[in-house]
Amino acid sequence: MGQFDDGSTYELREPSISINGNYGAFGGVNISPRVANQMIGLGLLEAIAEEDILTLADPTDQNNDGITGRPNYVWDFKQLDRRLGRFGWKANQPDLYQQTCGAFLGDIGITTNLFSEQNCTSSQQDCQNSTHGGSPEITEDNLISVVNYTRSLAVPIQRNVEKIEVLAGTKIFKDLNCSGCHIPKMETSIHPYVPALSNQKIQPYTDLLLHDMGPGLADNAPDYLATGSEWRTPPLWGIGLFQIVNGHTNYLHDGRARNIEEAILWHGGEAENSVEEYKKLSIDDRGNLLEFLNSL
Ligand code: HEC
Repeated sequence: MGQFDDGSTYELREPSISINGNYGAFGGVNISPRVANQMIGLGLLEAIAEEDILTLADPTDQNNDGITGRPNYVWDFKQLDRRLGRFGWKANQPDLYQQTCGAFLGDIGITTNLFSEQNCTSSQQDCQNSTHGGSPEITEDNLISVVNYTRSLAVPIQRNVEKIEVLAGTKIFKDLNCSGCHIPKMETSIHPYVPALSNQKIQPYTDLLLHDMGPGLADNAPDYLATGSEWRTPPLWGIGLFQIVNGHTNYLHDGRARNIEEAILWHGGEAENSVEEYKKLSIDDRGNLLEFLNSL
């Protein structure tokens, strides 16, 4: 239970995970429940130049605002090289091709040219011996169609932009330095495959960098350079439409926040100052900020 400065209180919930069943002993297994990332605007995020993301990084906090921001560097299984990570809750995928291949295998067990081995551990004999659908199970053509689909889902236009509460909330978003991580304006560079995504002015509200969000949100599961308490700033475009699109308003990596306000209250670590300032706001100003976020 927590309290706003005006005396009103709030309660947050967090998941507690246990695994039952006869699996034998788990050695060194990290469990990190995840809500799927939003699927909109991904092609635009892919088209942002690497230098533009790296300019936003401030690993030693030169500007002294308590916010650092670090790039994740991950393995590119196609180019066989280390590349900047930009997709996933811990920025552990370099592009949408690899993200899609990873999801085909890891989420639904379908092999691709990139990840052609079945996803069975050595002790899962039934899995090893079961019939599979060819190698790879999805053709490169069909795979590319899916990748292009994920690239081309549009971002919704902001709603109620003229509304006085939304305008007030826009200012509070900056005053609280939410915009220190959720960068409002960016411009894409050249997309290698889809010209329409190139040189676009966008408002993604992310820097695609990792931030230490404190022990409250930590899953203690490192991922490449991301530590157990670091997360990639998620884009905020479209968050006001979660209910319509997803049928729920469960925010944050594991969906623990039941609404946008709870998502804000969970922020810690580098975002501690923003949350402390949020708690000082009047109920009207908290409402204004939420109206702005819901307009995205
Ligand atoms: C230090 C960087 C940082 C600052 C400052 C920051 N955020 Fe975040 N924000 C994040 C990260 C990282 C996450 C994802 C954390 C997680 O899922 O565990 C996040 C998640 C969110 C989410 C949930 C998005 C989703 O898709 O689930 C909302 C809403 C949000 N932030 C709004 C705000 C607002 C409003 C402020 C200012 C009061 C703010 N943030 C300040 C980094 C930041």
